[in-house]
Amino acid sequence: MSMPSESPSNAVPAGVPISLRIEEDVNLRPYNTFGLPAVARRLVRIREAADVRRVVDHPELGRAPKFVLGGGSNLVLTKDVEAVVLKVEIPGIRLLETRDDAWIVEAGAGVVWHDLVCWTLEQGFPGLENMALIPGTVGASPVQNVGAYGIEVKDRLEAVEAMDLVTGRPALLPAEVCRFGYRDSVFKHSGFGGLAGKSVITRVRFRLPRPWQPVLGYLEIERKMAETGVTHPTPRQIFDWVCAIRRAKLPDPAVIGNAGSFFKNPVVTAEQCRDIIGRDPGIVHYPMPDGSVKLAAGWMIDACGWKGKAVGGAAVYDKQALVLVNKGGEARGAEVVTLARAIQESVYGRFGIRLEPEPVVV
Ligand code: EPU
Repeated sequence: MSMPSESPSNAVPAGVPISLRIEEDVNLRPYNTFGLPAVARRLVRIREAADVRRVVDHPELGRAPKFVLGGGSNLVLTKDVEAVVLKVEIPGIRLLETRDDAWIVEAGAGVVWHDLVCWTLEQGFPGLENMALIPGTVGASPVQNVGAYGIEVKDRLEAVEAMDLVTGRPALLPAEVCRFGYRDSVFKHSGFGGLAGKSVITRVRFRLPRPWQPVLGYLEIERKMAETGVTHPTPRQIFDWVCAIRRAKLPDPAVIGNAGSFFKNPVVTAEQCRDIIGRDPGIVHYPMPDGSVKLAAGWMIDACGWKGKAVGGAAVYDKQALVLVNKGGEARGAEVVTLARAIQESVYGRFGIRLEPEPVVV
């Protein structure tokens, strides 16, 4: 049953309308790209920053635990959600500022990431093209510092606008305080100084450098350049290549449920890497600027023979072993978790490496 109810709030600032719509028993299957079944006992749609303030000031919701839901593209739901789900749907994209060295573009946290990439290209503000087709929303993009084909969100981020879930006050966080790392940020951590569960990202400001410089170092992009003979691609050309590369090997969540890469690529010392190469000379690895080495988790899972294997409705994608999929649309979160654990054990058994999941498991 999903009977929305109107509930008054008793302490809202002047000018903020006093109603808050609380939906009950909301099916979350359409709101997570894995298509996993789960119910939110209470769900509030955040359509503007002031809605967060309304939640904080609400007599019941104010003190209740909260769960912030963006595009649900990095989420594995294994059970119903008892915390109040704040579904972020803040719209809008605009050019905030034109500087000599950059365009500053601001987007609402609820904007679909790929729509932002398309809008910036159409308006003539390139810089996000390598990250075309990444599933999810703008608000989720800094949380795990999404990235693809040589660029991460942190490379294009100016600042994050967020609302504090305790005080209901807005904050503007410059990129320097977001503690970005590989698929990591301050928004992913709940311990001391972390902001997970403590704030809601409402808008994100991007810095798109002028003049535009293509980012071409990635092997598959170089392959496209060789194939087409194009040595000086336009932003649109790179966008088209990235879309083609992704469509060829990553499943479209609208067709087959998934949460992108299921594990992070592990980073090991040069010595550990030499040891593994000694046993498995073919392992795909990338030396990092600090001397460490990133290993291709997809290659390791593939080498352990997991492609196409399944536990119930959860399966390893047959074109990219790093991606787990909801095969017939009927998978349950527990099956995804069982499959993931079995993969972790088998990779540990062969390579001595513990794979760390990328999505949040609830
Ligand atoms: N490989 C295999 N077998 C497989 C999968 C991969 O041999 O089943 C090999 C590939 O041939 C390649 C290497 O492993 O040599 C790496 O694979 P790929 O280039 O597909 O990239 P990835 O490391 O698996 C990462 C990101 C992706 C991002 C791509 C492109 C992570 C965890 N994943 O994947 O991001 O799109 O690079 O930049 O860093 C995501 O985070 O959800 C995501 C999709």
